[in-house]
Amino acid sequence: MKHAYRVVALPGEGIGPEVVAATVSVLNHVSRIAGIPIEIEVHDFGIPAYEKHGSYFPEETARHCEDSDGILLGAVERGGLLEIRKHFDLFANLRPVKTVDCLHEVSCLKEDVVRDVDILFVRELTGGIYFGPSDRREDERGPYGFHTMSYYDSEIRRIARVALEFANNRRKRLTVAHKENGLPKIPWCDLVQQEAKQFPEVTVETMLADTLGAKLVMEPRSFDTVLSGNLMGDWISSIGGALAGSIGVLPSASLNSGGFGLYESVHGTAPELANQGVANPMGTIGAAVLMLEQWGQQELAKLIDHAQWEVIRKGYRTPDIASGNGDRIVSTQEMSDQIIAEISEA
Ligand code: IPM
Ligand code: MN
Repeated sequence: MKHAYRVVALPGEGIGPEVVAATVSVLNHVSRIAGIPIEIEVHDFGIPAYEKHGSYFPEETARHCEDSDGILLGAVERGGLLEIRKHFDLFANLRPVKTVDCLHEVSCLKEDVVRDVDILFVRELTGGIYFGPSDRREDERGPYGFHTMSYYDSEIRRIARVALEFANNRRKRLTVAHKENGLPKIPWCDLVQQEAKQFPEVTVETMLADTLGAKLVMEPRSFDTVLSGNLMGDWISSIGGALAGSIGVLPSASLNSGGFGLYESVHGTAPELANQGVANPMGTIGAAVLMLEQWGQQELAKLIDHAQWEVIRKGYRTPDIASGNGDRIVSTQEMSDQIIAEISEA
């Protein structure tokens, strides 16, 4: 057995420190009761790192991350995020969205639309327009800026294989989001179809991203695994928040080809909510569940996952998922305390 798992926690900015602290409490608790050591070190990242070390992603933080079994990230506005994803080649971003019946009433969509939704968004995370040449310049028409989207076929093929593998282990249906009517030089559909020959049981359907956006809201149950490039994947996967009730409950894992990963919620820094104890820690706690699953610690993962939904079912809510029907409104840390109590009772 492995001696101890090592986690680097990067609280970051805004509500990041609060949701990370809540998640660390839960991880420490399950580690203790299961007798599986998980050592968690906190390091600087994002604006706090910049203020101290003059870098959003200091070398020292990188070294600690390199020595770890996983990175747990709170949230950052921007600085450091693209760098850390690139540094570890975390090209495969997984964003599962599973709706639970006790939160249907919180969604602004109709209950019969959001019932039993189970989608895995697979988003390419280290290529595309975020990483292409960009600049601000000036010519005779005035100042302008540009970002460039380019994808190597090999980058599309490798994320396609990840998505096909997941689809194969799920309901064997892969939808490829693309925009080839406007961006015909990046042939997502053809490349994914070629890779799909290795996965004969998976049905691949290609869909224009604009159509997909509408269909995700109208018929979310019709999707199983959804693959997209970096930029479109960001936008499409956020629709998952509307389906699940709040973006605050959505987790994500970003993995490289060695299976090493960074785990974070899908939500951002939400500066307007920071330091008030109102942030929902479930996205980050869910990300820790994905980390445990990735380590092969399925039992521990299930323990936390089950407990957190049980707590919600009992009516404990952070404000973002309040239903107004006899909820027990709790703070970020109280939510985590309830989850810990639930785990102890299980
Ligand atoms: C996310 C965020 C980032 C992204 C931003 C902060 C660059 O929105 O992780 O979804 O678009 O990847
Ligand atoms: Mn986003």
